Amino acid sequence: MEMMWRAISHPRLYRWARKFDEKSLFSFRFSGPDMIIIEPTNRCNIRCIMCGRTYFKTPQGDMDIKLYSKILDQIRIPLGIFHFGLGEPLLHPDIVEMIRIARRKGMHPSIITNGTILTPEMSRDLIRAGITSIGISLDAPTKKGFEYVRPGAHFETVVRNIADLVRIRAELEGEKPLIWVLAVPMMTNIRGFPELARMVKELGVDYFEVQRFELACQPGETDKIPGGLVEEDPFSEENRDVTIEVFKELDEFSIRENFEIKKPPPLGNLLYRSPFRCMMPYTYPVITWQGYLMPCFRFWDPREINMGSLCEKPFFTLWNGEPYRRFREALLSESPHPQCKSCRMFYGISQLWDEYAPVL
Ligand SMILES: C[S@@+](CC[C@H](N)C(=O)[O-])C[C@H]1O[C@@H](n2cnc3c(N)ncnc32)[C@H](O)[C@@H]1O
Ligand code: SF4
Repeated sequence: MEMMWRAISHPRLYRWARKFDEKSLFSFRFSGPDMIIIEPTNRCNIRCIMCGRTYFKTPQGDMDIKLYSKILDQIRIPLGIFHFGLGEPLLHPDIVEMIRIARRKGMHPSIITNGTILTPEMSRDLIRAGITSIGISLDAPTKKGFEYVRPGAHFETVVRNIADLVRIRAELEGEKPLIWVLAVPMMTNIRGFPELARMVKELGVDYFEVQRFELACQPGETDKIPGGLVEEDPFSEENRDVTIEVFKELDEFSIRENFEIKKPPPLGNLLYRSPFRCMMPYTYPVITWQGYLMPCFRFWDPREINMGSLCEKPFFTLWNGEPYRRFREALLSESPHPQCKSCRMFYGISQLWDEYAPVL
């Protein structure tokens, strides 16, 4: 497998391999992933009402930095590496060093953070280490709304940290990372999004992203989120009208103010269907803090499912190994993994909203 991967990594062959892999019709993937999520830690310092971390009993820990470096050596292609997981990545004591290592190896390291400990010093260190983008979660434009969604976080601190980050980016010489703000839409906060968009623009970040609300991210653990938060789902039959109205306002604001706002399709997977299945297990693998390879960011507990351990086998051996191929085969069949069947991305084409095409 490693030999074959070396041959396919040749630029000319690789272009061909990517063309071949564009459609998820096979369980095998000739080319590598488009992007990788690495979970530096699954510890967290706050308890967001919608997050699996708050409810799941997954064992907690930090990734060993030697394992991190070894994994990047195995991947070898200049990929985007997203640092987040079921936890707060800035809590990892070596996070700045991880970013530096990724950059030295030619990768494009990014982070998604709750912003609570993104101090000016941390911002400076991350930028100097070569981070290419930083996303900060801010789910509401008011103290009351934000602290209801994110118990343990302080609204003023997070807003100040974002403002400081933008200022420090302007002050420092050299490469400038992209900075964006993310928000999870729920019935409790979605009506505040037009106001939030205004606030985010004023903060001077590059764009605002409305995320896709997920009811659960772990097989067998759905019942551990109180009530499944079903009533919070902005894409349900009952709540959709409010969501469409808010999204319309966001579109108007975006055009008027010339400010980019990314949103998921408001109708879930009902209208936005691709003729193919979800591309996540072909494009966007996740590596847990213990070094387990996972097929998608809806899976975080290797005790439930995993594609093998990177402590034991190299990345490209696992990438087309038996468990991965079985998972992809199931995805293409009528009996995919139960988590896939209930997922809104099942008929989607990939993780990027822009790539969704309405197929009626
Ligand atoms: C799990 S967090 C980890 C990074 C960091 N701790 C943070 O809060 O930004 C990654 C992203 O997932 C989002 N998130 C949490 N629960 C979610 C849910 N139920 N559906 C969709 N996104 C969710 C968070 O708001 C955050 O932007
Ligand atoms: S969303 Fe982020 S900050 Fe909130 S509990 Fe989950 S991991 Fe922690």
